[in-house]
Amino acid sequence: MPAVSLSCRICSIEHPLVATGSCSRCFGPLDPTYDWDALRARVSRASIEAGPASIWRYADLLPVAAPSDARLAPGMTPLHPAPRLAAELGIGELWLKLDTANPTHSFKDRVVAVAARKAQELGLETLSCSSTGNLAGAVAARAAAEGLEAVVFVPSDLEPEKLAAAAVYGPRIFAVAGTYDHCSRLSVELSFELPWGFVNVNLRSYYAEGSKTIAYEIAEQLGWQTPDAVVIPIASGALFHKVGQGFNELATLGLVDGSAPSLFGGQAAGCEPVAVAFREGARVVPVRPASIARSLAIGNPADGDFAVATARATGGAIHTVAEDEIGPNMEHLAATTGVFGETATGVTLGALKAAVAAGQVGRQARVVLLVTGDGLKTPGPVSNTYDPIMIEADADAFLEQVLVT
Ligand SMILES: Cc1ncc(COP(=O)(O)O)c(C=O)c1O
Ligand SMILES: [Zn+2]
Repeated sequence: MPAVSLSCRICSIEHPLVATGSCSRCFGPLDPTYDWDALRARVSRASIEAGPASIWRYADLLPVAAPSDARLAPGMTPLHPAPRLAAELGIGELWLKLDTANPTHSFKDRVVAVAARKAQELGLETLSCSSTGNLAGAVAARAAAEGLEAVVFVPSDLEPEKLAAAAVYGPRIFAVAGTYDHCSRLSVELSFELPWGFVNVNLRSYYAEGSKTIAYEIAEQLGWQTPDAVVIPIASGALFHKVGQGFNELATLGLVDGSAPSLFGGQAAGCEPVAVAFREGARVVPVRPASIARSLAIGNPADGDFAVATARATGGAIHTVAEDEIGPNMEHLAATTGVFGETATGVTLGALKAAVAAGQVGRQARVVLLVTGDGLKTPGPVSNTYDPIMIEADADAFLEQVLVT
């Protein structure tokens, strides 16, 4: 296991690799540190390519040892070309990173797989989280696969499909009166009292590292080349920030050709604290969310300021997408690519359209859009498309009457 310590992102002091959510000196977030000289000597394109077809092919760059029995392993999801939509948008190449192909149909399986390994290393028997929906399902499924207990906290107005997609694995589900931010505060308080692995609290440093594997996979799947731009939905900002870190690490190791991509983020108008901070050049100011993109409805985003910094450092931007564009964007993606992404993906496509309209993505650009969650879990905004034509089971009538235009 190559990680050597946890280091504070703010004050840089080092901490041991234990279950601790923040720096004891300044409360800053903690990131695992690695011995990059040792990794440069050991990790090559060939060594990665010889690994398993999952996130565990990048185990050298993760803060936990790969499981010897990798059940339900996430990762190596398809990178799917979308030439029809690229042509419509007027960009050179568009690729969809289909994280809907993970075991519980979202990118959260990546982060949970890493956090659960750490929980097991530390002997913790209960896996817990506060969730906007997808994380609850990923935690519940991972616990079921590994024989751990699962306890999840979700906002009480969660979509019924998301609730069912978590409940089926048998976790204890607590529907909290309030928003995600209330769930989050509750789980932070409980993490000081209970011997549980809260994946996005006391295991957050390990959990967040799982998102780096999206960057690694994109580069590997493009033949160890970087794209020009990657478009990413933002809730807490952890995914956005860690994808940026992942591309930087590949460059540090000399594994990739091309410069780091510009990262573009999307937030829905009903919950846009990170997009506002980017536009105004200010720190993130928490809001009370009111968005149909419930998976992105985090009003007090833990990594929001880091996401803003990542967007600036990479020459990208963070855009706001109108609430009434989210459903039509889900339909547009589905009808032009065959991919049904969730509400978060409606936001992501909106961010790409905004970046193209602003001239931030070149006409020749090679762009990757992350499809981080599955539309089947959030069908509400596209239910207006469901309007079948009622007919009799009669071929003659069909040919003579129905097909007549
Ligand atoms: C489908 C989907 N996409 C993107 C995100 C954003 O992730 P982050 O909180 O790391 O910004 C989430 C978070 O719940 C999500 O469920
Ligand atoms: Zn600190």
